[in-house]
Amino acid sequence: MTYPRSVTLRGKTIEITEAKRAARVAEMPEIDWIEDRDLRDKVIDAWIAALEAHGFSQIGEMKPSGNYDSNPLLTGTQCDHMRSVCRLAVKTAEEMVSLFPNFRYDRNILIAGALCHDIGKVWEFQPDNVKRWKADPYAVGFPSIRHPGYGVFICFAMDLPEEVAHIAAAHSAEGELLERSLENTIVHWADVTFWKVVEAGRQFAETDTWLDGLTSSISGQPKPAKP
Ligand SMILES: [Fe+2]
Repeated sequence: MTYPRSVTLRGKTIEITEAKRAARVAEMPEIDWIEDRDLRDKVIDAWIAALEAHGFSQIGEMKPSGNYDSNPLLTGTQCDHMRSVCRLAVKTAEEMVSLFPNFRYDRNILIAGALCHDIGKVWEFQPDNVKRWKADPYAVGFPSIRHPGYGVFICFAMDLPEEVAHIAAAHSAEGELLERSLENTIVHWADVTFWKVVEAGRQFAETDTWLDGLTSSISGQPKPAKP
């Protein structure tokens, strides 16, 4: 792809520049692990458009939690979560290859899928959305669409391949209704591992002050994280 270029997402026109692309890679350096240049470009551009169309300037601005109403990490960002899931997923695949030479997986899809698995959080974690849903939970639902569902929308809108959209769609509980791909199975368990280890390692904040205390007042006692 050539840059700058313009894309439209949710009716907003977004200019994708080299400077914005560099900023996304700086925040999420594992993007450079994707060797397929076209796929790497699409992951970068999807994140630029997803963030900008929903009022975020970086991934780390989003609440660092599994769901909008679960407790945030004690330290670290939402971007750190996605980076860590990617790194865990790659290590899992590399471990399998090291002892089982017939084991085959698509490394580019695994990395791209891991880095995009929670891209739909730009919708579920968007503060104005949460306030709107809270004001009338029966109007459009609360949340109206969880991050896996919205992730599919962004993936296809930004021309990411079906394999990546599937990981966004079904890395979480939604995936219990279908058969996950190999790469999604790896991402799913990396995601579960991340949140379970955070919990056991006491790396969740004890209170949820995110969104000015909005979420804890909605949900009462903070819920344990679900991937
Ligand atoms: Fe996740």
